Amino acid sequence: MIPQHRWQNYPTSIFSVMSAEANAVGAVNLAQGFPDFNGPEEVIQAAGDAMKKGLNQYAPAIGIKTLREAIQHRYQQSYALKYDSELEVTVLSGATEAIWCAVQAFCGPGDEAIGIAPFYDSYPAACYAGGATLKTVALRPPLWKIDADAIERLVTPKTKMILVNTPHNPTGRVLTRAEMEGIAGVARKHDLIVMSDEVYEEIVFEPSVHIPMASLPGMHERTITISSTSKTFSFTGWKVGYACAPAALTEGMRRVHQFTVFCSATPLQHAMVRAFELGEDYYKQFRADYRQRRDKLLAAIRAAGFDAPAPEGTYFISGGYDRLAPNVNDMKFSLDLVRKNKLATIPLSPFYLPGDPVAKDLRQVRFAFCKTHETLDKAGEILENLSGFTTGNSPRGTL
Ligand SMILES: Cc1ncc(COP(=O)(O)O)c(C=O)c1O
Repeated sequence: MIPQHRWQNYPTSIFSVMSAEANAVGAVNLAQGFPDFNGPEEVIQAAGDAMKKGLNQYAPAIGIKTLREAIQHRYQQSYALKYDSELEVTVLSGATEAIWCAVQAFCGPGDEAIGIAPFYDSYPAACYAGGATLKTVALRPPLWKIDADAIERLVTPKTKMILVNTPHNPTGRVLTRAEMEGIAGVARKHDLIVMSDEVYEEIVFEPSVHIPMASLPGMHERTITISSTSKTFSFTGWKVGYACAPAALTEGMRRVHQFTVFCSATPLQHAMVRAFELGEDYYKQFRADYRQRRDKLLAAIRAAGFDAPAPEGTYFISGGYDRLAPNVNDMKFSLDLVRKNKLATIPLSPFYLPGDPVAKDLRQVRFAFCKTHETLDKAGEILENLSGFTTGNSPRGTL
């Protein structure tokens, strides 16, 4: 008999489910959060050059020195945050591996972590793998505001870590200074570690400003900041992420990292050194491009009858479909949208713990706008055909 008691607690990712649905009908895929365009050409060139130069064997487990130095420089330049590239900066295989290592290093059986739902779906899996219990504060639309008191109410003597994500997937919120201060206050008061997942730090729309958790008073020493080149340079398939944290926290993560993947892909690390040399014009253009894409998709979504606040950051829009299909749960709504209208989105309820009462009545789906204008225009056409649909019947079938 094949034992199932362990793996059955890892759900099939909703991203895989919806992408399979999208592929089956040839749908426009706004479900998965990856760009359908390439990152900068010179970075691709640098990867090829590194391979041809023979930089194809294992890298040092903690990451190649030049990339760690580039990351150190970027934190100093962007936020005046100081990290020692030898002891406090680690390259990992994507933010996903960094999250995994952070949780395994500090949360074990009997420990508790506090998360904020909706969350990236690797957080509960990482807690489960470590044997730790994840407790969550559930945010509600349309404001998705964080209440630090609600976080504090979940703290017990077993709590080790708070898992934070800003800019926030899937809501598109950029947490305000007051919200970040609130979370920081709880962490300081109860002597907790904060895992701050900031992978969308470069996708922030004015007037919003990204505030790194580690930049707040008393937080540098207790924060593991995680980011990734996946989002910043549009190479999600390369899985080059990184973590910055004081030496004592870094040491714990590095021990775990040795036994997950040991090191991430050598030539791609070399290419990312080139990526970090691109300079401010790159980031400016990157944000301007995403702003245009956001505005285009947002207008189409709103015109179709969704209630969607403008995202302050990330490349996601969460839209409420109450006016379109008032009594339909989000899984059914997304499945019908992809099967009948050939538009793939992600329902938001899987971003909550199973059974969370807030998730039950959510009626929200996530649209990704990290797509070419051509893809967004196609999505726009589909959405246009949905407009006027208020009674349970869409022009092309019942949702
Ligand atoms: C909030 C958040 N954290 C982490 C990740 C994973 O990043 P990576 O591709 O570097 O593993 C994602 C990817 O979608 C994300 O949305």
